[in-house]
Amino acid sequence: MRTQVAIIGAGPAGLTLAHLLQRRGIETVVLESHARQHVETRVRAGILEHATVETLRDLGLAVRLDQEGLEHRGVELRFDGRGHRIAFDQLVGRSIWVYGQHEVVKDLVAARVESGHPMLFEAEAISLDGVDSASPAVRYRQNGAEQSVTCDFVAGCDGFHGVARSAMPPSTLREYTHEYPFGWVGILAAVAPSTDELIYASHTRGFALHSLRSPELSRLYLQCEPNDTIGQWPDRRIWDELHTRFECPGWSLAEGPVLEKNITIMRSYVAEPMQHGRLYLAGDAAHIVPPTGAKGLNLAVADVRVLARGLVEYYATGDTNTLDTYTQTCLLRVWKVMHFSAWMTSMLHRFPGDSDGTERRLQLAQLDYVTSSEAAATALAEQYTGLP
Ligand code: APR
Ligand code: PHB
Repeated sequence: MRTQVAIIGAGPAGLTLAHLLQRRGIETVVLESHARQHVETRVRAGILEHATVETLRDLGLAVRLDQEGLEHRGVELRFDGRGHRIAFDQLVGRSIWVYGQHEVVKDLVAARVESGHPMLFEAEAISLDGVDSASPAVRYRQNGAEQSVTCDFVAGCDGFHGVARSAMPPSTLREYTHEYPFGWVGILAAVAPSTDELIYASHTRGFALHSLRSPELSRLYLQCEPNDTIGQWPDRRIWDELHTRFECPGWSLAEGPVLEKNITIMRSYVAEPMQHGRLYLAGDAAHIVPPTGAKGLNLAVADVRVLARGLVEYYATGDTNTLDTYTQTCLLRVWKVMHFSAWMTSMLHRFPGDSDGTERRLQLAQLDYVTSSEAAATALAEQYTGLP
């Protein structure tokens, strides 16, 4: 098989790239190791920045998002038993949308299938050849048989555990890794959210987050020990801990059946550069942020906007300026978002080893500042709703 751009991975990065290129007449083949049903039901985060929504609207792929997504104009920071609203619309004139990542994936997959352009499920990329040449190839396995797709460019959109990054020569690759000393227990519960807007709570027992998916579905998270297993978190323990960490006079948390439960480890990772020869990494394949700022999907979409612009320019004019500066352009945003996510994480979580309480006092000072200074609240709002 031959195409112009081989895209590995049908997550938000790979699918958005496929659509951005497809509408400009650039041929792509998408290879996805899992089945369609798996990628469409994988529960992940669900916060879309303004610019992510605009990208999907531009592509004509936001019909369901505009009907079912929930526009949020602020979030609450809760500490010391009190809530404080950060009003995005008043501070920066923007908002965010609550719409599950798997719903975005469903919409993008449906439109791709409808278009008839190639997208292969249960087709696992196993190696990349010739990324230094003008005609690289991706070998993949489907139905037990090995095949390959030859192309002009490879987009490695295959997530943190994918294969594309391993085709970067180790001598040129610098990796920046940080593991946080805690994880998150996440639940999806069949109960009306106890809040209209997300609540980020910082408590002496640890962080908690009340998010939602719909008027009938709540998504809640709790900071846990880094090596905890889900077996250590029966539903009763989760709800008890949530009640404690969200405690606030005049407010109560409604419980409901737990539909899904999982533990996420908290890490950050950046690979530099994001490109080698004709291989371009995008999304989680190149970087992971801790989920506190809900930036993973948005950063993935921002990468592929840059990549699509470069590829469109190349096929239209032969000019490689945007492609040549792909890494620099993306990293300018990546490191700012890394910083924002690390900052939110450190402001809100309980860190081990704070024996005399200094860290907690510093956190409370920071939280008080962010919720009482318009300048500080504006900085949070600007980054949460998405940098330009
Ligand atoms: N061959 C083909 N597909 C692969 C391979 C492979 N060798 N390895 C992984 N994949 C697929 C995965 O099954 C997955 O569907 O690549 C896809 C990568 O998608 P994501 O992990 O969703 O990554 P990305 O598209 O970069 O989206 C960014 O934001 O909220 C965060 O981490 C979250 O998924 C999220 C991400
Ligand atoms: C989610 O809804 O899953 C979510 C929301 C905000 C975050 C992380 C996850 O910061």
